[in-house]
Amino acid sequence: MDGVTVIDHPLVQHKLTIMRKKETSTAGFRRLLREISMLLCYEVTRDLELTMETIETPLVEMQAPIVEGKKLVFASILRAGNGLLEGMLELVPSARVSHIGVYRDHETLQPVEYYFKAPEDIAERLIIIVDPMLATGNSSIAAVDKLKERGAHNIRFLCLLAAPEGIKNFQSVHPDVKIYTASIDSHLNELGYIVPGLGDAGDRMYGTK
Ligand code: URA
Repeated sequence: MDGVTVIDHPLVQHKLTIMRKKETSTAGFRRLLREISMLLCYEVTRDLELTMETIETPLVEMQAPIVEGKKLVFASILRAGNGLLEGMLELVPSARVSHIGVYRDHETLQPVEYYFKAPEDIAERLIIIVDPMLATGNSSIAAVDKLKERGAHNIRFLCLLAAPEGIKNFQSVHPDVKIYTASIDSHLNELGYIVPGLGDAGDRMYGTK
């Protein structure tokens, strides 16, 4: 699918299968999400630019490549996005963080925004939005709208699962934002859940209902 990268690494697929199982505990789900987020982070940052730095090894001076970590912003769509954020920050500790509070009204399925915080200079940074589930796409669209209003123009979207309907909706509004996901599932049900999916990611991560 154009504009969508499916991260099909065997470890990602293995961990995702365990996360989908209804009997997986809250603690297990959270641990797997942390682990999988590092693997997803590895893929979504695969083409980051490197700059050279002069360093000294115990033997000689050399020019060695480093990532410009402070050019990155991880933007978490609350609350489930925080589950992905944790592992990503372990891999890129110098990344800046944006929090975007959008919840889905269970009746209208439309996003309601309640919080937004981002670094001042997001226009100069690569923004990686994280949210485990790209379902209807409405919250993701609202998050990108908000970031673009603040000047962001280099944006990627990282999720665990995506529904074809959500991808279509998202790409119709933000075709410039590349999507990275571990799976494109079958469809959305009438309640807006991804099928087969893994249930409500926030509830599974925090043990709520
Ligand atoms: N959000 C979730 O947490 N799960 C879904 O299946 C859809 C949206």
